[in-house]
Amino acid sequence: MTVPTPRTTHPPLGRRLLAARGPGLTEHHARFGALPPHPAENLIASLQAAGLTGRGGAGFPTGRKIASVTGGKPVVIGNGAEGEPLSGKDAALLTRAPHLVLDGLHAAAEAVGADTVYVYLPERVAPAVRSALADRVAAGLGERRVTVVEAPEAFVSGEESAVVRRIEGGPAIPRDRTRPTSICGVRGRPTLVNNVETLAHVALIARYGPRWFRSVGDAEEPGTMLITLSGALPHRGVTELPTGAPLSEVLARGGLDDLRQVGAVLLGGYHGSWISTAALTSVRLSRPGLAAVGASPGAGIVHLLPADQCGLARTADILTYLADQGARQCGPCRNGLPRLAKLFDALAYQRVDDELLDETDRMLGLVDGRGACRHPDGTVRLARSALNAFAGDLTEHQAGRCTAALVTARSADRRDARPPTAGTA
Ligand SMILES: Cc1cc2nc3c(=O)[nH]c(=O)nc-3n(C[C@H](O)[C@H](O)[C@H](O)COP(=O)(O)O)c2cc1C
Ligand code: SF4
Repeated sequence: MTVPTPRTTHPPLGRRLLAARGPGLTEHHARFGALPPHPAENLIASLQAAGLTGRGGAGFPTGRKIASVTGGKPVVIGNGAEGEPLSGKDAALLTRAPHLVLDGLHAAAEAVGADTVYVYLPERVAPAVRSALADRVAAGLGERRVTVVEAPEAFVSGEESAVVRRIEGGPAIPRDRTRPTSICGVRGRPTLVNNVETLAHVALIARYGPRWFRSVGDAEEPGTMLITLSGALPHRGVTELPTGAPLSEVLARGGLDDLRQVGAVLLGGYHGSWISTAALTSVRLSRPGLAAVGASPGAGIVHLLPADQCGLARTADILTYLADQGARQCGPCRNGLPRLAKLFDALAYQRVDDELLDETDRMLGLVDGRGACRHPDGTVRLARSALNAFAGDLTEHQAGRCTAALVTARSADRRDARPPTAGTA
């Protein structure tokens, strides 16, 4: 097979990452052309000019992160672990557009001068990526070798230091970091860890440049983003929209036009925030757009709670899961999160009194900011947002009532949690 030349024809506006007709190398090259050879400093400058931010949850500026990788023999890792149960976008991307992620991985490796490249993903996605890698070798693209490392299906397995630990052959649990991964990562080598969606955007910016990237989306956080829609919606799955799209438009993609069917929306996943329907109408899905309501899109997760379901009970379920997923190496994970989960269980299923509320508040303060990784902080954020968004339910529970009909439907709801991997909303 001959290697095609780079194309400059842009993919359609709203659909960028998912614009190719299929996952194969031929469809990928037909849509995007080949990755142009890109000098390292040009790529970093382009990424900074583009304003690309990480799509793994924290939204760190990608150009700055790549530029911070310093020292000999760097390592580059594409993080597709997607441990968050409400997210399906990385699996969808790796299944439907694996070559875009691999292009981004190679462009990033070129930029930092790395010869060791990994892609870290759950077993269920590995066949699609292994097949894409084999096709690239067969096509004679002459690239660096990429090693596939399987990520265990656990909430913390995609945390940066857990990724490094797993690639070193250890358990996929976070470790206390004294030095940043960009300086001291895999076996002490400077290491770049980027989410796989971030890398796919890198591949597009390397082709079409920063102006094209900035032509859609929120001015402060431009481009498109993959969004996983789940919960009380007619159509669940993964969709691509410009950042800063009105939440009403996002929900319309999921087939919902009547907010009365919704009790609240969980934005950003299990480490995200509940937002009550009253606060939803004018909200835009981007970090700047959600700052006013104290939320963030995280890794692009939008989950809807049905109007007849108790938000406190749903949160208690999630907190139980999160407490169970903690690596129990630090105090907040060993003692604080299980205690918090028990307190929320009481708030959801027993009569609420002031003592219970005070103790919950005290525990939130004890856990917040005390772990070696951000797992306890994310858990506290979710719990605090629930107390705020479901204040009306708390009042009901104080009176010994619950207005939600589905308060006991816990197992059914758990079955419902993970959205279809490669579906399109
Ligand atoms: C508990 C926890 C779990 C995480 N899981 C993932 C994950 O599954 N995938 C991911 O890309 N980032 C995950 N992250 C964020 C990573 O630590 C890291 O910031 C990210 O991979 C960097 O990529 P980006 O800059 O491209 O966003 C997690 C963070 C925490 C605290
Ligand atoms: S806070 Fe929890 S998950 Fe994070 S490092 Fe400590 S024990 Fe592990």
